[in-house]
Amino acid sequence: MTSSPTEIRADREVRVRAPGKVNLALRVGRREADGYHPLATVFQAVSVYEDVVATPGEGLTLSVTGPQAHLVPTDGSNLALRAARALADHAGIDEGVHLHVHKSVPVAGGMAGGSADAAAALIACDAHWRTGLSRDELHELAASLGSDVPFGLLGHTAVGSGRGDLLTPALCRGEYHWAFAVQDEGLSTPAVYAAFDELHMGGGGHETEVSLMQALRAGDPRALGRALHNDLQAAALELAPNLAEPLAVAEDAGALGVVVSGSGPTIAALARSRQHALVIAAAMTAAGVADSVLTAVGPVPGARVVTSGPE
Ligand code: C5P
Repeated sequence: MTSSPTEIRADREVRVRAPGKVNLALRVGRREADGYHPLATVFQAVSVYEDVVATPGEGLTLSVTGPQAHLVPTDGSNLALRAARALADHAGIDEGVHLHVHKSVPVAGGMAGGSADAAAALIACDAHWRTGLSRDELHELAASLGSDVPFGLLGHTAVGSGRGDLLTPALCRGEYHWAFAVQDEGLSTPAVYAAFDELHMGGGGHETEVSLMQALRAGDPRALGRALHNDLQAAALELAPNLAEPLAVAEDAGALGVVVSGSGPTIAALARSRQHALVIAAAMTAAGVADSVLTAVGPVPGARVVTSGPE
């Protein structure tokens, strides 16, 4: 899983765990001059995790394990390495670090796995190099790396505006159980936004989510299921029409609500209970409408140092 223990100086090993996310609501406005779309979104962090271990190294290096590790670039374009570089530049660090990423969040799946890696790498390198950055500095670095990275730091349930990087924690009671249909072939986020533009769907970026926020405050999964919404869903379905199948299977299995997660192609189904999430996942597997399935609970915290690694 990680480097062999003999290679690690235990005093400088830092383990960080960061969650994937689902957008409970995602409202997208028209593309602006900078190429980005204004968003009004509600994120929830779920118990599908990226585990990042920082150990001493020469230069900035990376290794990756996990079911979809072969899909992840390990060069300088990797978001975890970019996060380490950004922090080193910001804090004037010339020491190296090796980052080992164990991925469980689907790659290019609309669950912000790469963003979770970046958030985890920021926390891991900050602890490893003892740079002691403030939350605000970390947030700023995170936003410079990608729109979803600040939420990877914050976790729990939060309202996002701007590019999704301006965050306000949301009141949320209770636990929400999810089943996810994962596809081996990811969708490119810019391609989904471009399809969204083609469909001329922009304009609703500033709606408020009154019923959704009420459902969260009340801890009412049924009301939350009714309020799930994703403006990118039609664009994702345009690019991957087969996604209609897991959506339908999850509905037939009694999901309280089903949406494309973020820019897809992962489908998120809200269940009545942990047991029901397993039933929905089994139904999606049996129907052959997902390459793999995951179950999870939310909300969970953002990127944080942990003492144990992935099981
Ligand atoms: O910020 P991030 O690098 O994750 O965004 C990836 C791409 O997704 C952007 O280059 C842009 O094409 C699209 N995007 C967008 N509007 C947003 C967030 C992302 O158009 N609010």
